[in-house]
Amino acid sequence: MRTRIDWDSLRRQAQEVAARAYAPYSGLAVGAAGVAEGGLVVTGCNVENASFGLTLCAECGVVSALRAAGAGPLVGLSVCTADGRPLSPCGRCRQLLLEHGGPDLLLDQGSDASPLALSLLLPGAFDSGELERRRAQ
Ligand code: THU
Repeated sequence: MRTRIDWDSLRRQAQEVAARAYAPYSGLAVGAAGVAEGGLVVTGCNVENASFGLTLCAECGVVSALRAAGAGPLVGLSVCTADGRPLSPCGRCRQLLLEHGGPDLLLDQGSDASPLALSLLLPGAFDSGELERRRAQ
């Protein structure tokens, strides 16, 4: 059975967790809330570092929490700033989300737009299937 996604609740949880972000360098607090198949909600926030390249995006926290809970895959995700407005996942996170949600993972676009599938944000993606196909050759 398809997992029901309450987008308003998910967005609210993303906004709430953004308040706990550690973003002293960029000043951009980001929160993410994802629903796993079966309905478990996991959250994460961005964690910056004085060595800028070590910054962890909010989506990294979500994927870590997903794995730690023994849940998966993700079926819906909201990424928001502290004002509750949706943020488009960065390129690296799109690739990370593909591995843990697949191309049909739905991404929140805010209360007045329909969610978008990850495949639209990451066309022609490199994925684990590509590795398997090449190993088989
Ligand atoms: N950030 C995220 O947490 N997720 C994204 O998908 C885009 C960017 C964070 C990283 C950094 O702490 C801040 O936003 C500014 O780039």
